[in-house]
Amino acid sequence: MSEKQPDLPNRQTPFSEAFRAFIGTDWASGSGELPDPLPATAYAPSRRDKVGAAYPGERIVVPAGGLVVRSNDTDYRFRPHSAFAHLTGLGTDKEPDAVLVLEPTDSGHEATLYFKPRAPRESEEFYANARYGEMWVGKRETLEEMAALSALRCVPIEELEDALSKNADQTAIRLLRSADRAIAELVDRIRSQNAVDAEQAAEADQELEVLLSELRLIKDEFEADQLREACARTAEAFAEVVKQFPEAVRRGRGERWVEGIFGLHARHVGNAVGYDSIAASGDHANTLHWIRNDGDLREGDLILIDAGVEIDTLYTADVTRTLPVNGTFTDAQRKVYQAVLEAQQAGIDAAKAGNKFSEVHQAAIAVIARHLAEWGILPVSAEESLSDEGGQHRRWMVHGTSHHLGIDVHDCAQARRENYREGTLAPGMVITVEPGIYFKSDDLLVPEELRGIGVRIEDDILITEEGNENLSAALPRSADEVEAWMAKLLKN
Ligand code: GLY
Ligand code: MN
Ligand code: MN
Repeated sequence: MSEKQPDLPNRQTPFSEAFRAFIGTDWASGSGELPDPLPATAYAPSRRDKVGAAYPGERIVVPAGGLVVRSNDTDYRFRPHSAFAHLTGLGTDKEPDAVLVLEPTDSGHEATLYFKPRAPRESEEFYANARYGEMWVGKRETLEEMAALSALRCVPIEELEDALSKNADQTAIRLLRSADRAIAELVDRIRSQNAVDAEQAAEADQELEVLLSELRLIKDEFEADQLREACARTAEAFAEVVKQFPEAVRRGRGERWVEGIFGLHARHVGNAVGYDSIAASGDHANTLHWIRNDGDLREGDLILIDAGVEIDTLYTADVTRTLPVNGTFTDAQRKVYQAVLEAQQAGIDAAKAGNKFSEVHQAAIAVIARHLAEWGILPVSAEESLSDEGGQHRRWMVHGTSHHLGIDVHDCAQARRENYREGTLAPGMVITVEPGIYFKSDDLLVPEELRGIGVRIEDDILITEEGNENLSAALPRSADEVEAWMAKLLKN
């Protein structure tokens, strides 16, 4: 009997010497063909140049992040940090534990990707490592393959520590700290060995976090195309969901069926859903982030579906439609729907280059407040409610109207206030416009026939030189168009 091998998980049977000698033999050699570079790699160098230009002479470190344990030896599916994806052009599950380093040179920076290349089949990793081994999780790239795919110089991750330590007393390191705790610990160690002021370093790191977020505020043409694609796939998935409404009603727990059908299409055509889908029928629509999705779908109710397909490059759509389960709005539902649609249109009209980001919200919320006042729900005038001292209308729409959209559903979240919330819209920005009205079933201020109705309409808007482009326009928005679209889908 062989001795217990201490590095094996307790469930694993020890490997015999005979097995070890045998496992590496008689595998066909690969074709040796290298992959084509990913399309995003054509755009990544100019993004990296902007980062380098901001920090001349500094060593810039952008980790992808590591695998996260779900339980025991089971990890969550990997998704790289969005800044890493943006600067390398890598998407889907590439690449756990990788680190992009921009090394200062006389003329700028040289980019290197440090990562864990595929282990040979003679290695224990191949068969015994459930986290990285080819037999367990599939083939990772070799150095040559990753270099071809990413158009980057690629080096084994074992060399990272030496590379970061080199001249570290003269070369400042600037780290995207939030991406990978293990790399943060390594950089901290190198800094303390070189007597680097920890407070200054923390400030520098935070600045990089902001810069990388702001770098994504304006999308290049490739990114706009990816978002167009994500929206097109999302529109298709919404149509597939509608076709399944009768089945969702019949089965019970129909919200889950809706979530599942959307998720199926997202996984099939893309990488995943860009965020947990909201499938909120009836009064659940009034819970803004309803992702429990365990309710029934009932004839006569609305269902609010907020969902987006994230494609393989990691760009995601973020779209909401509020649909009558049986294909026809009631008068009360239509009344609320029309008000939200009018507010959304006002927001979309205000989403133009030169306007403030906040003007989109102001335009939309003014319409919401006016309707609430007209319906006798608002206890003060619309003007008073819209003033800084008022805000009563927010009881029925407590969220904002817009956020930036891109690789992250709430993209550019670390951008400074003056460039985001108080910023000015510019061509290339992509924002959502998503007003809503939420009348909870137990809200005594709301007329009885409107209680339990929640409506949000959300589209993804690219700001252009001329105005804007609604990237999610393939999905109908007006109540009549929604009914006609649903009638067609439900007939088949
Ligand atoms: N789906 C999240 C949001 O609309 O912001
Ligand atoms: Mn949404
Ligand atoms: Mn949104």
